[in-house]
Amino acid sequence: MKDLRSLALEVRDGRLRILDQTRLPFDEAWVAVEGPDHMVALIRALSVRGAPLIGVAAAAALAAFAESGVGGEALRAALAELRQARPTAVNLMWAMDRMGAVLAAGGGAAALAAEAEAVFDEDVALCEGMAAQALGLLGSGEAVLTHCNSGGLATAGIGTALGAIRRGWEAGRIVHVYADETRPLLQGGRLTAWELGKLGIPHTLLTDSMAALLLREGRVTRVLVGADRVAANGDFANKVGTYGLAVQARHHGVPFHPVAPWSTVDLACPDGAAIPIEARDGDEVRGYGPWRWAPAASPAYNPAFDVTPSALVTSLILDRAVVPGEELGRGALAKLGG
Ligand code: MRU
Repeated sequence: MKDLRSLALEVRDGRLRILDQTRLPFDEAWVAVEGPDHMVALIRALSVRGAPLIGVAAAAALAAFAESGVGGEALRAALAELRQARPTAVNLMWAMDRMGAVLAAGGGAAALAAEAEAVFDEDVALCEGMAAQALGLLGSGEAVLTHCNSGGLATAGIGTALGAIRRGWEAGRIVHVYADETRPLLQGGRLTAWELGKLGIPHTLLTDSMAALLLREGRVTRVLVGADRVAANGDFANKVGTYGLAVQARHHGVPFHPVAPWSTVDLACPDGAAIPIEARDGDEVRGYGPWRWAPAASPAYNPAFDVTPSALVTSLILDRAVVPGEELGRGALAKLGG
């Protein structure tokens, strides 16, 4: 594989490393990926996370495995394991199916490496495409609220929603960013705040429960969020809490936009009810890291994502178009894909 570098993934001299996102913002620790099993564990632990990045990382891990001399059944088994490391973000399946097609066509290590490089490079371009589309609808003096982390840590490029926010700020249209902390795993507090700080973008952190008040106070002009899977009718899954934010934004008349690359659109999924939602361990709700604040015996509900119906979407910002919410339910995505 050629050398690749993004905020949280690096290939150098054929060796793959990832920035361990569970240790941010305090430690910027890079981890050498030992093989596909290791990558599966890193994805499950959210050391590598964000819908596009897990696809990119899994493709790079598979290519590196092939380059180490592994082939045949072992490679196919590794692909199958990687493909099911997390169930909701369709970018993972999309990337693995691309690698699978190369394998099925008889491609070897060089072809797999070329495909992994293409997945990486395309994601960088898709991010810029989304940001360019978003710029077309931003006004001036915008104050944007976002949820979870959808930036350079979640993609190979500048990000989805956070990439659009970054370009919007650079263009002088966005003046402030509000970042939801994002319970339970704090991707907003740990990761988005870290990225915004590094970029010098003025921001304010809030707990998820403060968003409704912020919206009522009129301090937010627009909500931009990422997506892990967009169904054919525009319903979409994103980090749990997104649905509540969409309801609140609608109630307060604030425009609400998911921002996603085409690799996140799943036309085979008719609507939100068909999107598989990852259930995670209750310990993530009862505490964080070494800290515990709830009785170990208390059952906890921990869906990693929720589904926002397209009826709550003002418009969906893709890399190739901005689709008005009312057109999503009328087959607009299928037409774009055709
Ligand atoms: O569980 P995570 O941290 O992988 O969830 C990430 C999100 O929900 C993002 O908003 C999503 O992947 C889309 S943005 C790249």
